[in-house]
Amino acid sequence: MLSISVKEFLVWKKNQLSKGGDQQSFAVLLDCLGGVSTCDLNLLNINPEGDLNLKKSLDFLESVWEEHLLKSHPIQYLCGIAFWRNLKLKVTEKVLIPRPETELVVDIVSKIFDNKSQKLFFAELGTGSGAISIALALEYPLSDGIATDIDQDALEVASENYINASKQSNLRFYCGHWWNPLESFKGKLDLVISNPPYIPKHTYEKLPKEVKNFEPKIALLGGEDGLKHISEIIQKAPLFLKEKGWLILENHYDQGEKVKKLLLKNNFTSIEIMNDLSGIGRFTIGRYK
Ligand SMILES: C[S@@+](CC[C@H](N)C(=O)[O-])C[C@H]1O[C@@H](n2cnc3c(N)ncnc32)[C@H](O)[C@@H]1O
Repeated sequence: MLSISVKEFLVWKKNQLSKGGDQQSFAVLLDCLGGVSTCDLNLLNINPEGDLNLKKSLDFLESVWEEHLLKSHPIQYLCGIAFWRNLKLKVTEKVLIPRPETELVVDIVSKIFDNKSQKLFFAELGTGSGAISIALALEYPLSDGIATDIDQDALEVASENYINASKQSNLRFYCGHWWNPLESFKGKLDLVISNPPYIPKHTYEKLPKEVKNFEPKIALLGGEDGLKHISEIIQKAPLFLKEKGWLILENHYDQGEKVKKLLLKNNFTSIEIMNDLSGIGRFTIGRYK
C-alpha cells in the first residue's frame, strides 16, 4: 500500500480526467487497480483531509489511463474487471465486455418466472464472461443451469467468475457450437437465453476502435445480415425447449421485427419485442407453443 495525501490525490484525479475519458471508466481504474471504490471517492470529496492508501502508485495508474486514452484500449480489459449488475467479473480479451443493456435480460426472466424458488432448468448459449448465467443461477438458487460457448478460453473465464460469485453448484459449463453441447437435454429446458453475435458484416467493419480492435470478433459478427446465428438458434430451439418453454434473444437495434418473423415461422407464440432503457427493441422473446 502507498500512502498519499487526499488533496494531492484529488488534484491528480482532476488532472487525469482533463486529458479525456469518462468518469465511469476512471472509477473502474481507481476501484480495480487503485483500491479506491466509488464510495471511498465520495467520502474523500466530502472530507479531503488526511491520507489515502493506494494499491498502486499514481504513476502506474496514470500509465494505464493513458494507454486507455491513446489506444482506445477498454479500461475493463486493462483492469481485467467489468462491473455488471451486482457482479464484479473477470474479463480477458477472449470475452466480450458485458454491456449494461444486457442487464435487462435478467429482469425479463424475473417477470416471466416470478417465483424465485422455482426449479428452472435453463441454458445460455454463448455465455462469454458468464454474466447472464451467473446472475440467473444466483437469482434462482434452486435452478439448474447450463452455460455454453464455442470458446474454451471464454468458458474458463466464466467458470472462474461463477466460483468467485457463488458458493452453489447449480451452473455447469459446456463447450460447443450452439445447441450441440445440449444433445442430451432435448425437450427438457424451461428457458433458453442467448445474446449471440448479431452485428452485420458491413456494420462490424465500421465499429469503433475500442470494440473492433479489442473485443473478440467471434462474439460480435453475425454474418452478412447479422442474423446467421440468431436464425440457427431459433430453428433448433423447438427440439430443446419443453412445451411452453421460453426463448429470450438479444438482437441488434433494428432486428426485432425480423427475429419476430423467424420465431413465428418456427411455431413460437407469445412473441414480444422488448425495449432496452434507450427505447430500442433490444430483446425478442417467444414461447414454444
Ligand atoms: C455477444 S457475445 C455474448 C457474451 C455474453 N453472453 C454477454 O451477454 O456478455 C456472444 C458469445 O457467443 C459465443 N459464440 C460465438 N459463436 C458461437 C457458436 N457458434 N456457438 C456457441 N457460442 C458461440 C462467443 O464466443 C461469445 O462469447
